[in-house]
Amino acid sequence: RFNHARFIPPDAIFALTAEYLQDSHPQKVNLGQGTYRDGDGKPWVLPSVTRARETLSAQGLNHEYLPILGLQTFREATAEAVLGSELFAQQKSKLATCQSLSGTGALHLAGLLLRACQSPLPKIYIPEPTWSNHHQVFSSLGFPCESFKYYDHDTRDLDIESYYSTLKNAEPQSIVILHACAHNPTGCDPTKEQWREIAQLMKDRQLFPLFDAAYLGFNSGNYDEDAFAIRYFVGEMEMEAGICLSFAKNMGLYGKFRGYPPIWRAKRKRSPELIENAMIGERVGCFMLATKTSEAAVNTQSMLEMLQRSEVSNPPAFGAKIASQVMGTKELKEMWFTDMVTMSGRIRSMRKALYDHLLSFGAPGSWDHLIRQSGMFGFLGLSPEVVLKLKNEYHVYMAGNSRISIAGLNPSNVEYVARSITQCLKD
Ligand code: LMR
Repeated sequence: RFNHARFIPPDAIFALTAEYLQDSHPQKVNLGQGTYRDGDGKPWVLPSVTRARETLSAQGLNHEYLPILGLQTFREATAEAVLGSELFAQQKSKLATCQSLSGTGALHLAGLLLRACQSPLPKIYIPEPTWSNHHQVFSSLGFPCESFKYYDHDTRDLDIESYYSTLKNAEPQSIVILHACAHNPTGCDPTKEQWREIAQLMKDRQLFPLFDAAYLGFNSGNYDEDAFAIRYFVGEMEMEAGICLSFAKNMGLYGKFRGYPPIWRAKRKRSPELIENAMIGERVGCFMLATKTSEAAVNTQSMLEMLQRSEVSNPPAFGAKIASQVMGTKELKEMWFTDMVTMSGRIRSMRKALYDHLLSFGAPGSWDHLIRQSGMFGFLGLSPEVVLKLKNEYHVYMAGNSRISIAGLNPSNVEYVARSITQCLKD
């Protein structure tokens, strides 16, 4: 039976992290996987999240099942945050929501639902380049995936004309993957004006917008600003839309809790429950579907419930409880917004520091694209040979397409990274 099973090479980004962890060089730098690090290069537990955990712990956590669709308060608070209170109040009855295993789980649920609702299977248009998992998620569900040119490697900018022309010529009823903000890997987003044009073209052509929204609030530090495109499509344009949300980046809930803040360390002795809770993974996200009628919302939500039941039965509780606590408590929500300003601000300052060092070392080429880009990533535009050399000779790790996670930079390593890039390019 399994004699013909194919060997699939390990995922490039996770493999890179594993390689980095095995490297014993004292100056090694990990700019691969997109995970936030603080100014000391350490994982950062958001203060708002720490506070939410303390409250939950005081309430006494249990390990009961969640409902199949997930935690109701979490689903509601998420939808309200994404749409803003006013639009949420208008759209509430036309929304279907389902808690998911982070952003990837949300994309997968979206794919399952679309596959069940549309026959023959629609085409999915995916920007090129894109997050490395998009093609895999949808092609493994059987969708025909088609790449379109999003980025111009010569101008090192968004190729908006190619984008428009793809939409004008797309097969009606197809699906288009849209990065809601902080496009991964290029860091180039459409302007508001361009988003309006994209929405109009998609509406004219009856294309379905499927937003990958992993960086709301994390991109600019302003959640409302980052949610502009979603709100415009759903609110102003009254379009059906799917929104795939992750709390990995903007709430720092990547996987499992990685360390105790000092206050917790003191409490740990007294409360074994805290230790146990700290081992629980989060993986929290949400799939949200904006439909046109309350009947469509009820029906699609019932389908999501069935699809979720057949796949994971019901989602994990801990992350949803944290996120719900943060978003549902006025004080914690404000803290969370401040936390996002802290993270995005630090990333912006490191982006600028890298740029300044590259210029001062006289790194060959122009680097303006680096400060035009935004979000977690910098898309350097280095050749695969240079990327490999940086890893092998300088112990600087980045994705093969020369995407760097700017969050991996800090005041202690940014100069070293800039010097290494410069030397590699001059050699
Ligand atoms: C990334 O793009 O590096 C992150 O979103 C992590 C991942 O799952 O690929």
